[in-house]
Amino acid sequence: MAAEQTQGSRQSRSQLRQMLAIGAIVSILGIALGLLIDWFPVQASGEAKKIDTLWDVLIIVSVPVFVLVQTIVLYSVWKFRMKPGEELKDGPPIHGNTKLEIWWTAIPATVLVGLCSYAYVVLHDIESASADATMNVRVVGEQFTWTFGYPGQNGGKEVLSNELYLPVGTEVKFTVQSKDVIHDFWVPAFREKIDAVPGINTTYSVKTIREGDYPVVCAELCGLGHSTMRQTAHVVAKADFDAWLQKQRSGGAQAGGQAAAGGAQAGPADGKALFTTSAQPVACGSCHALADAGTTATTGPNLDDVLKGKDAAFIRTSITDPEAEVAKGFSTGIMPQYGDSLDPKQVDALVKYLQDVAGK
Ligand code: CUA
Repeated sequence: MAAEQTQGSRQSRSQLRQMLAIGAIVSILGIALGLLIDWFPVQASGEAKKIDTLWDVLIIVSVPVFVLVQTIVLYSVWKFRMKPGEELKDGPPIHGNTKLEIWWTAIPATVLVGLCSYAYVVLHDIESASADATMNVRVVGEQFTWTFGYPGQNGGKEVLSNELYLPVGTEVKFTVQSKDVIHDFWVPAFREKIDAVPGINTTYSVKTIREGDYPVVCAELCGLGHSTMRQTAHVVAKADFDAWLQKQRSGGAQAGGQAAAGGAQAGPADGKALFTTSAQPVACGSCHALADAGTTATTGPNLDDVLKGKDAAFIRTSITDPEAEVAKGFSTGIMPQYGDSLDPKQVDALVKYLQDVAGK
C-alpha cells in the first residue's frame, strides 16, 4: 500500500513537471507573438508611448496566466480521461489542499494589485499633463460631423474649422462638447478618447510628437451617419500651423466666422463639387444617392427620387431645415441643419445643382 502511494506521488510529480514544461514553452512563444504583433497605429503623441508600454507589460504578464490555465485544463482532460472499464469509478476522495489554495489566491492577488497600481500611475501621469497644455482646442460633436474651435487673437472671435490642425511638439488640451447626442472624440494615433456629452465639458490633453495626417473618428454609436463621422487631424510644423490659423482668421472674418466648409476642396460656386467632396461638413454624397454625382449611399433618401419635380425653395429648406419635411421611411434628427455650417453662396450653389440634375 505504502509502495503504491510513493509510486503515485512520483507519477503525479512527473506529470506536474510535464505540465510546467509545456506551459513555459507555450508562454514564451505567446509572449513573443504578443510583442511581435503590430497592434496599434503609429505613436503620434507622447501619451501613446506610455500607453503602448502598459500594453506590452499586460501582454507579458497575462499571456503566461492564460497559457498556464489552458495547459492544466487541456492536459487534465487528456491525461485523466475516463478509460474503458472506469465508468462506475468515482475517483479518490479529495478534501481540498490548504497550501495550494493559499498560493493560488495570493499570487493572482499580488499580480492584480501590481498591474492596477501601474495602470493608475500611467493614467495619473497622462491626466496631469493637462496642466502643462499651452494650446486649447474646443471640439464639438454633432450628427454627423466634428467642428474644431481655436481661440481668437487677443480674445477675438473663435476660429471654427472642420479640419483639425495642430502644431507638432505641443501639449494640446481638448475640451469636448456635443450639440445633440453622445459622441466620442478619438484620434487612434494619439491613443486617448473621451465621450462628447451634451451639456457638459469633457477634456483630455495630448503632446503631439510626430507630423502627419491621422484619422479622427467618432467612437460612440450616435445614429445612422455614425460611420461617416470621420475627419482628419493634421499635425504640422509650428510655422505651418501659424500660417494656417492666420489664414482661417482672415478667411473666417469674411465669411462671417463660418466654419471652413471644405473651402479649398470645393469652390463655393460648384454645387457638384460641394456635393461629392468627402470634406465635412458637406459630404452630401456620403449619405445620399444621386445619379449625376455617381453616389449610391443609402443612409439618407435617394435624391433622384425625393427631389423629382421639387422647386428651388423646397430644396433649400431641405438643406437648411431638413426637419421641415422628412422623406417617408426616414427618421428625423439624422440630417444636420446645413444652414449653420455652409455659407449662403454654398447653399445657393447646392440648390441650383440639385434642382438642375434632380428637380426637373
Ligand atoms: Cu458621432 Cu458616432
